[in-house]
Amino acid sequence: MDYGMKNKVVLLSGGGGGTGRHASTLFAKEGVKVVVADINETAGKESVELAKQAGGEAAFVKCDVLHEEEVAGAVQFALDQYGRLDYAVNIVGLNDKFTGITELTKENFDYEIDITLRSTFYSMKFEIPAMIKSGGGSIINVGSTASIVGVLAHGAYTAAEYGLVGMTKSAALDYAKQGIRTNLVCPGVMLSDVLQKRLEADSHFGDKLLADIPLGKFTSQEDVAAVYVFLCSKYAASITGAVIPMDGGRSD
Ligand SMILES: NC(=O)c1ccc[n+]([C@@H]2O[C@H](COP(=O)([O-])OP(=O)(O)OC[C@H]3O[C@@H](n4cnc5c(N)ncnc54)[C@H](O)[C@@H]3O)[C@@H](O)[C@H]2O)c1
Repeated sequence: MDYGMKNKVVLLSGGGGGTGRHASTLFAKEGVKVVVADINETAGKESVELAKQAGGEAAFVKCDVLHEEEVAGAVQFALDQYGRLDYAVNIVGLNDKFTGITELTKENFDYEIDITLRSTFYSMKFEIPAMIKSGGGSIINVGSTASIVGVLAHGAYTAAEYGLVGMTKSAALDYAKQGIRTNLVCPGVMLSDVLQKRLEADSHFGDKLLADIPLGKFTSQEDVAAVYVFLCSKYAASITGAVIPMDGGRSD
């Protein structure tokens, strides 16, 4: 299937790990030039190497998404490096504290909002004008099951994740006329390297988590990355403002 993406440019913010690492390779295989932005230089450069091994062009830019000027710098780097920006995947988001609201400090709350919601605001703020200059584009924000339903002991994270829904849908309306599509991909518990190691050490580690997932399996990072690529492709030309669960039915 020809996704019609050859010579386009993607910025993967948080592309050094997990779904971003898989996406760097999948985009490269489609002929997309890949810019990996990450706070972790070693991890980001590894994703760039993998994209190159897959036959693509790729470059790394160090960026802490907590700082607006660094996010602006990463978008500028993509423009300087490849002359355009067509797609962006805004991946960074973290749940730091697993407690009820009464045990959360103001600092915990601010951090959750900053790393998940404010960082995505910074990213979209600079990605959208760059894409408009390039003739349109596709932005994928990364949410969670916690963007769709409440999750025990995840109060601040859920607040940030629900915020992503509103921001993604509003941007879809604001910039549709300029050819920008914005969508939110919402993975459930992903089979990360950390989870994989825990399961190897204790085969029952995931039992409680799996009991809540109707399809009875964790979400594959590679599947999530493939949906990023699809949402940028010509076949997703009518999809904008969508909230797409990838959680085995957990949020149904
Ligand atoms: N892991 C899960 O099971 C799960 C479940 C649902 C949703 N999510 C969401 O998925 C996203 C994470 O996806 P993933 O597993 O592909 O990522 P990951 O956690 O494997 O990697 C994220 C990358 O972000 C980078 N990063 C961290 N802080 C940063 C910062 N301040 N500035 C720039 N880069 C930074 C890390 O170095 C890392 O390379 C998050 O938005 C999270 O909320 C994850």
